[in-house]
Amino acid sequence: MSRLIIDGMKRLRGETAVQGSKNSALPILAATLLSGEESILHNCPDLSDVSGSVNILRYLGCSVSFSDGTLVCDSRNLCRTNIPNSLMREMRSSIIFLGALLARTGNAGMCFPGGCEIGPRPIDLHLKALSELGAEIKDDHGVFKCTAPNGLHGANISLSFPSVGATENIMICASLAEGTTVITNAAREPEICDLADYLNSSGAKISGAGEGTIIIEGVEKLHGTRHSIIPDRIVAATLLSCCASTGGRIKLNRTIPSHLRAVLSIFEECGCDVDIQGSSIIMDSPHRLTAPKIVRTMPYPGFPTDAQAPIMAMIAKSRGTTLFVENIFENRYLHVSGLLQMGANIKVEGRVAVSQGVECMHGAEVAAMDLRGAAALITAGLGAEGKTTVDGLKYLDRGYEDIEVTLSTLGGDVRRV
Ligand code: EPZ
Repeated sequence: MSRLIIDGMKRLRGETAVQGSKNSALPILAATLLSGEESILHNCPDLSDVSGSVNILRYLGCSVSFSDGTLVCDSRNLCRTNIPNSLMREMRSSIIFLGALLARTGNAGMCFPGGCEIGPRPIDLHLKALSELGAEIKDDHGVFKCTAPNGLHGANISLSFPSVGATENIMICASLAEGTTVITNAAREPEICDLADYLNSSGAKISGAGEGTIIIEGVEKLHGTRHSIIPDRIVAATLLSCCASTGGRIKLNRTIPSHLRAVLSIFEECGCDVDIQGSSIIMDSPHRLTAPKIVRTMPYPGFPTDAQAPIMAMIAKSRGTTLFVENIFENRYLHVSGLLQMGANIKVEGRVAVSQGVECMHGAEVAAMDLRGAAALITAGLGAEGKTTVDGLKYLDRGYEDIEVTLSTLGGDVRRV
């Protein structure tokens, strides 16, 4: 079982490029099932969640090759429509394959994706929306079978919550449905726009992505295409947190700064100087941060829930008190126990956490319990005195491509053993 060993208090300096977005790659990989032709995806990150998706695509009959950031998927020989439990367990967000399988074949079978560390992860919004498009869903003791006996048809779908995954499943499924689908209260995340760009480049007719209302005009067929995946805004936020945790100064290249507005304003409130130069972000952070008053997670364009953990880690040593409100997931403070081991002063009450900045943090042996919690423990370790070891790298590797290499090139003392 590998772990990271961090020797803290080294100021991060230098520059690095940000990897492709995990949360954009995963729905697009599912959507490659639609065309029955070859999709070429550039800037695809090499992550265990991506390998999980590739294993599902290959099991379903697709031929997939992946090298040097370019993934090629040819879905012409699709020959299965069910996803076995073993592959579902490997990749929690595999529910995103449902809409694609239904649209391409009229059939889909999979077990209910279990919850994960940060919450039960229900899929009621997905299932309700797909049934409004004409799917029939039968629950057979935890395995559900979907069919579209009369084909899929357009519908007016109003989401009770702007669910990212449900919005994506609807966009994918409705692309080949007969007629027009309108999604109201749709998710607005940049990954939604990237999925729409991929689908439109393969012949879909989607408008309004990134706004609250998305219109999808169903088409007969989609064709192969080439697409470059957007940069990962959460990895960018994480690297900036690592920098601010050490009083460092870094330049991030290959970002889309407009995707990070809510996050960058928190860094500025903490006393960091943020300079945007095209697709690069240059941030200079003070020796000690000023605690922002409140960090409240919201659907995009609000502050992203995925950045809450690394930001909390960097704020642990700031001057003042910060109120965190986690409005998206039920159980997203699993990193607090590790931060407390390192000397933080944080109190959690349900969805609220109060962090009182401490003068300094010290290294400890800590274990990650979820993906962004792993990033938080690394962020804290970089700014802590002495040695920190971080276990639970299976969570980290789901979303971060060789982060220890990136941090080392920026002057951090981080080793994977
Ligand atoms: C996506 O998850 C991301 N994952 C998450 O990133 C991200 O935190 C989340 O969006 C919010 O931005 C991927 O894109 C692969 P949701 P998703 O549906 O689609 C509830 C990471 O760290 N809900 O917007 O699952 C749900 O329980 C991961 O990279 C229902 O109640 O998020 C949650 O409380 C973590 N019923 C809220 O909505 C449903 O049918 C937001 O979920 C679906 C969701």
